[in-house]
This record gives sequence, C-alpha cells and structure tokens, in this order.
Amino acid sequence: MDRTLTLLGIESSCDDTAAAVVRLGQAGPEILSSQVLGQTTLHEVFGGVVPEIAARAHAERLDGVVEEALTAAGVTLDQIDAIAVTAGPGLIGGVLSGVMLARGLAAARGLPLVPVNHLAGHALTPRLTDGTAFPYLMLLVSGGHCQFLLVQGVDRFVRLGGTIDDAPGEAFDKTAKLLGLPQPGGPAVEAEAALGDAKRFAFPRPLMDRDGCDMSFSGLKTALLRARDALVAEKGGITVQDRRDLCAGFQAAVAEVLAKKTSRAIDMAGERPTALAVAGGVAANRTIRTLLEAASTRVGVPFLAPPLRLCTDNAAMIAWAGIEHLRAGLSPTMDFVARPRWPLDDRSPALLGSGKKGAKA
Ligand code: KG4
Ligand code: ZN
Repeated sequence: MDRTLTLLGIESSCDDTAAAVVRLGQAGPEILSSQVLGQTTLHEVFGGVVPEIAARAHAERLDGVVEEALTAAGVTLDQIDAIAVTAGPGLIGGVLSGVMLARGLAAARGLPLVPVNHLAGHALTPRLTDGTAFPYLMLLVSGGHCQFLLVQGVDRFVRLGGTIDDAPGEAFDKTAKLLGLPQPGGPAVEAEAALGDAKRFAFPRPLMDRDGCDMSFSGLKTALLRARDALVAEKGGITVQDRRDLCAGFQAAVAEVLAKKTSRAIDMAGERPTALAVAGGVAANRTIRTLLEAASTRVGVPFLAPPLRLCTDNAAMIAWAGIEHLRAGLSPTMDFVARPRWPLDDRSPALLGSGKKGAKA
C-alpha cells in the first residue's frame, strides 16, 4: 500500500440506514465515522420489516446520514477517494435507494464506485478489526442470515452450509413473540433463559445427525409452541418460571446446534482456518458465544468476535470491503445492477429459506 485510501460506505439493504468513512493508511485501517439509523420503531407494530416502509425510510434518511458520517469523520467529499455501496442481497427497494444516491454522488464528483455484496461486508470485517489472514471461517448469524463461509480471498468465498429455513435470530424473535416478550426477541429470551432450567424441556436438535453443516430452526419454534400449548392446556396458562425454562431450553438447543455445526464446518474447510469469526446480532448471545468459542478453541482454531456494532449491519464494513476490492486491483464500476439475491458462492446450492427480513443469498 503506497497511498492512503479514504472511502465513503453506504448501506441500506435491510432496516438500518447507514453511512461510514473508513481510511486505510500506513498504520492500518481506521474507522473515521460510522452512523447507523435503525428503523425498529417504524416496523414494530407489523411484527417484521415491511419492505415498502423500509425503502421509503432509506430514501428519506440517506442524505442526512451520509452528511452526518462525513461531518463526524471531519472530511468533505473532496477528501473521499471512492464510494462503496451495498448492491445486494437484500430488500430491493432499500438497496436501490442506496445505489441511486451512491451513483449520483459518484457521477457528480467523478469518484470511482465499488458495488459491494452485503455478505462480503460481514465476511471481511475480521480483516478490518483484527487483520485476520485468509483463509478463515465465518459464521454469520443474525435475523436475516445464517451461513458458514470459508473466506479465502477478497472475492473468494466457499459457502459450506447454512440454514434451510429460518435464521436463528428469526427463531429467537418468534420465540419471544410466542411467549409475550418484547422485540427484538434475542436479548429478551437470553435474559429469561439466564433464570431458567435448560434441561426441563427436551427440545429437538434439528439436522444434528445429517452430514455437513446445514441447519434448520423452524421445527424448534414449533416444538416450543407445542410445549407452551401443552402447559396452557394443563394449567390454563404459563408461569414466569415456565417461560424462563422454555427460553433456556430453546436457547440451549440453538447454541448446541450452532456449536456442533461449527465443529463440522471446521472439518469441512479442508485447509486449516486461521480463525473462526462470528458476525450478526445473535453472536451477542453469551451462551452461544461460549459454546462456539469452546468448539473452535478445542481444535486449536482461535475464536474471534468483532465488536457488536461491527457485527450487526453497518456501513463501515461496506467501506472496508470497497477498500479491499480496490487494494486487490478489482476495478470500480458504474455498470452494475442492484440485486435482491446475490450468493457469495455461486457454486453452492441456493438456500431454501427466506426469512422475515427478506430474501437471503
Ligand atoms: O445482525 P442483526 O442486528 O440484524 C440483522 O438481522 O441483519 O441481528 C438481529 C437479530 C435479531 O433477530 C435479534 O433477536 C438477534 O439478532 N439478537 C439476539 C441477541 N441479540 C440480538 N439473538 C440471541 N441473543 C441475543 N443476545
Ligand atoms: Zn447483515
């Protein structure tokens, strides 16, 4: 690297409107700013992200968020070398809002534009935070994603497996809803689970005996519903302790499945990964983290969990992926389309599942 690169990143593929400025200098990468404006309150009453509402909110807010990111970074557009924008996969209306703004800015300023795959943004984050060397294993676990990726290079990803139905975050959210807990469900279920007995309910560990590292979480949610209904039929309702025990049993099942499949994914990687990195909101769960860390360190693979604000959706990861692309000699381009689906690994079969947050790669 002989020169400093400063990129503006723009992200709008789901329900976070985000912009960030990231600089790569001699001393390594530096996040100069990272603004994320969430939309939870806009979608809350509908029980899931409404694509039309998300797209409109992105269109209305992006300008302001980009301005805030530039101001917070203390730079103007004159000091930006290139723009990186999420071009998919995601809710297409939102992706288009970001792409149109990025195209406009790039054309007006004569700046190179780098279209970034949102999943590549997540997958390359360990290199932004820890300079992790290729190849490493990445487990994306959020409300919209769940897959194991072997990251071999800036644009070389092998998808080893993933969910065939719901993403784990989605299962946490549905569990919370079934038990009358607030959204997003993950933190609420985790708090209840901490006070519960994980052994009281025997929840299934779906696909545990199947080869490979594909996963399924929708049956778990059905099992939880049955257990709840059985309690209601028996006693006319569920007690606070019942709820805690249900949460603990559910969380233990998710954590165990993720840990077991992580061990499989490490075996399947072929070459020894330099690390197991996690990303996504579900990676905030302490029980899950502990089991994942145990599964990877047991076989001598270091465990890496970047700070949560960089694990969940943000634009710093998009700016960083743009820097990685330019540094690797990949050409910026205005010639691209926004894509609702965009698998990182074209050779692996398409995922069957499609969750509440829209199409997944
Ligand atoms: O990565 P993220 O912020 O957004 C996307 O899905 O893209 O992940 C949000 C998901 C939600 O489903 C939320 O319930 C889950 O992550 N989550 C958790 C925890 N914190 C957030 N799941 C389990 N335990 C947690 N502590
Ligand atoms: Zn994401």
